[in-house]
Formats: sequence, structure tokens, C-alpha cells
Amino acid sequence: MDTAIIRTEKLEDHDKVHALLVDAFEQREDEARLVERIRRSEGFIPSLSIVAERDQDIVGHVLISKAKIMNGAEAHEVLALAPVAVHTDMQKQGIGAALIKEGLERSRALGYDLVLLIGHPTYYPRYGFKPARQFGIDLKQYEVPEEVFMVYELAPGELGKIKGELIYPAPFFE
Ligand SMILES: CC(C)(COP(=O)(O)OP(=O)(O)OC[C@H]1O[C@@H](n2cnc3c(N)ncnc32)[C@H](O)[C@@H]1OP(=O)(O)O)[C@@H](O)C(=O)NCCC(=O)NCCS
Repeated sequence: MDTAIIRTEKLEDHDKVHALLVDAFEQREDEARLVERIRRSEGFIPSLSIVAERDQDIVGHVLISKAKIMNGAEAHEVLALAPVAVHTDMQKQGIGAALIKEGLERSRALGYDLVLLIGHPTYYPRYGFKPARQFGIDLKQYEVPEEVFMVYELAPGELGKIKGELIYPAPFFE
């Protein structure tokens, strides 16, 4: 098996990333459109849009972008992981894991404290994600079960200190 190259997304990858997202999300375009809106927004961090390339094709993608935890009037900038996708023919080969681990490493190197997400409760804990509400982080914008709203601590000791409501920015709702 050839391994995939994990690298920063380039402008010329956009169409392939779109096709990948439509494939991975059962022909829905919602996630592809979400990525396009985030790319155009101020929350976009180019180095946190990461692709997996194999044989000149894009077979995986993860996007991590800016969000906020609001505690009263106080805002703490955090990151939100959404979406992550691997081509249906290439799943279960570790590509998702490689993308997520690279995304978390880059996020740490950029100096962020926390990454939050809504996702499969049996998938993300293997990377160290934990249910967020138990650490005092609330989510009101989406009504989701307790265990799918998760947080990853990039800076040791920050979890439990940064409390409040996670606010996903406008591109998530357009
Ligand atoms: C989730 C996804 C990105 C994982 O990518 P991947 O390259 O297959 O992941 P890996 O090979 O690193 O890991 C595979 C593991 O993930 C598990 N997994 C995949 N999808 C899962 C899901 N929906 N729920 C729970 N576990 C899942 C597999 O069972 C496998 O587990 P195992 O290692 O115990 O056998 C990929 O399955 C995908 O694109 N799915 C469709 C889009 C999606 O649901 N994205 C996530 C939105 S939260």
C-alpha cells in the first residue's frame, strides 16, 4: 500500500477536495459548501486545511478553523475541527488518523489551547478527545447528545480553566 502524503491544501486542490467531500458524505454537498464558506472567512487558517494525496489524487482532507468560547463578555479563541473526510475507497487505512494527528500537531505549534468538535463518540476519543461539557464548556447552537461534543487539550492544564459557551462562527450556519 502506498502511503498518502499529508500536506497543506493548495488553491488548485479545491475542486478535488469538493469532490472528495461529496463522496465521503454520501453525495451531500453540505460539508463541501461549509469548507468553501470557511475558506472565505476570517476564521480560516490556511495551514490547518490539510489534505492527504495519493497518486496525484486528493484522498483525504481535514479542516480546523477558528471559533470562540465566550464567558460573559470575555472571548477565548479556540479551534474547531470540521469536517474530516477520507475517500470511501480509502477508509480504514489510517489516513483519517494521519490527518487528525497532523492537524492537532499544527494547532499546538500555532499556540492554541483547545480544539473542539461534534463527532462520532467512538472515533475521536482514540486521539484524546473527551466530552467537553464535563470541563465546563457548553454548546447551545447545536442540540447534540452529550458524548458527541468533544474537546482536545493542546496546552496541558488549559482544560477546565477555559470555561463558557462554544460559539461556532457564521460560516457554520449560512
Ligand atoms: C471518519 C473518517 C474520516 C475516518 O477516516 P479513516 O481514514 O477511515 O480513519 P482511520 O483509518 O484512521 O481509522 C479507521 C477507524 O475509524 C473508524 N470509523 C470510521 N468511521 C467511523 C464512524 N462513523 N464512527 C465510529 N468509528 C468510525 C473505523 O471503524 C476504524 O476503526 P478501527 O481502527 O477500530 O478499525 C472516514 O471514515 C470518513 O470520511 N467518513 C465519512 C465522513 C465522516 O463521517 N466524517 C466525520 C464527521 S464527524
